[in-house]
Parts: sequence; structure tokens; C-alpha cells
Amino acid sequence: MADYVHGYSSREAERLTDQADTLAALMHEGISFPDGHTVLEPGCGVGSQTVFLATHSPGAQIVAVDASEESLVAARRRVAGAGLDNVTLERADIYELPFADGTFDDVFVCFVLEHLADPEAGLAELRRVLARGGTITVIEGDHGSTFFHPESEAARRVIACLVELQARSGGNALIGRQLFPLLAAAGFRDVRVEPRTVYVDESRPDLTDGFIRKTFTAMVEGVRDEALAHGMVSEAEWARGIAALHRTAEPDGVFCYTFLRALAQR
Ligand SMILES: C[S@@+](CC[C@H](N)C(=O)[O-])C[C@H]1O[C@@H](n2cnc3c(N)ncnc32)[C@H](O)[C@@H]1O
Repeated sequence: MADYVHGYSSREAERLTDQADTLAALMHEGISFPDGHTVLEPGCGVGSQTVFLATHSPGAQIVAVDASEESLVAARRRVAGAGLDNVTLERADIYELPFADGTFDDVFVCFVLEHLADPEAGLAELRRVLARGGTITVIEGDHGSTFFHPESEAARRVIACLVELQARSGGNALIGRQLFPLLAAAGFRDVRVEPRTVYVDESRPDLTDGFIRKTFTAMVEGVRDEALAHGMVSEAEWARGIAALHRTAEPDGVFCYTFLRALAQR
């Protein structure tokens, strides 16, 4: 976990929450688990998605786990603050879950496979703890889906730094495009993947701030020191690239990014 590309700073915790709040309608649309179901959320982080899951499925029991105790402390605070009583939080590794075969009716996993060195093994473990006929929902991004106006080579370069650093730490920032083959190869059936696109222009000021600045650009900015330390770009190139990303949030700017949401059955 030491290599986790985004790290566990309070700034990253805030970014995860901005991201979840900004994208809640897009990510959670149509997701509501039946009363009585037990739902596993592995890699819950600071609980940013957990509160939406638990709120949208008040009759289900959400079991949220993460490898980071520090994130779980923040998640417990967030869940308690939201007054939710249908969530339990515990520390667990997605590769070795402390649950018997077929324990869960559903699994919801968001922005986690992209950080796993072995997503196939992670999915195999999730399939093991899912009951026969149970559902799995997987949401991932794919930085290759990004386009913007004005176009900028400098912006592309800083995004490429994040993709490269994530790959060096064993992850894959382009994993969204692989959801179908990964889930199918893991033995899930009825796999359906839908693109969920965030399109931002001046007419959507909430997304200009919430997505371009606070979610996407903040995520790229988070690897600045590492990118410079590895000599991937100069300080001046880095500053130009980040400025170009912020430039797309100006009134005549446009930004587009596609998340992939998969639903499949055990
Ligand atoms: C980008 S965060 C996403 C958090 C949350 N799902 C969200 O969407 O806000 C990725 C999370 O996966 C967790 N994680 C990474 N590898 C893990 C593993 N092997 N087992 C459990 N959690 C893991 C990290 O600790 C981190 O909290």
C-alpha cells in the first residue's frame, strides 16, 4: 500500500469527497440494493461513496473495507456524521478478504481496480465472497478518454506523468477500457459496461469547479513532487501543464472525461 499513487493526505481525502459528491448522480444513478441484502464495498477509502450507497439502500447492510486504517478512521467519522446505521467498516485486504464463500448478495467497487497490481486476483476474491446470482458493480476511470479545449500538449504531458507513475506503482490509470474482458475472464456472467461521461462547459459551472478543478486537475497535481523527483518534466513544464488544465475551466473552455460502469452477475 506504500506505493498507492494518490497517497493518504488530507488533501487527497478532500479530493475523493469532492469527486464523489460531484459525480454522485452519474455514478450512483439507478443503484439501490434491496432491503435485507448485504453489500460489500472493498477499497471504501474515506467513505465518500459509502454514504451514497447506504443512503440509497437504507434497508441493505453495507460492509465497507479498506487496507488503510487511516482512511477507515475518516470513513467512520463521515458515516457517523451522516447519521447512517446500516454501515460497518473494517480493515481488510481485497486480495484476502476475511469472509466465507458466498457471504454477500452484492459487491460495489469504485476506483480501486486501477490501483491493484493484480486486478484479476482481486476480482477472483470478490467473486469468491459473492453469492451465486449476486451482482457486482465496478466503476473505473480511464485517463485516455480525456479531451479538452483549448488543446494543450503541456496538459497532455502532465496527465501522462500520472498515468506513468501509476503504472510504475503497479496500477493502471487506463483500466476502464478493460472492465469487460477482466470481468468476463474472472467468470462473471451477463457483463454489461456503460460509459458514463462527464461533459463540462460554461453552462455547467458546478462541474467546472467540482470536476475540472477539484477532481481531475487536483488528482494530477497530487503527483507533482514525484513527477519532478523522477525527472519526468521540468518545474516550468509542470506549471504550464497545470495552468493549461485550469485554462479549460475558463468560460470558453471544454472538458470531457468518460468513466466506465460495469454490472455483472456471479
Ligand atoms: C482512489 S481510492 C477510492 C476510494 C473510494 N472507493 C472512492 O471512490 O472514493 C482507492 C482505495 O483503495 C484502497 N486499496 C488499494 N489497494 C487495496 C487493497 N489491496 N485492499 C483494500 N483496499 C485497497 C486504498 O487504500 C484507497 O482507499
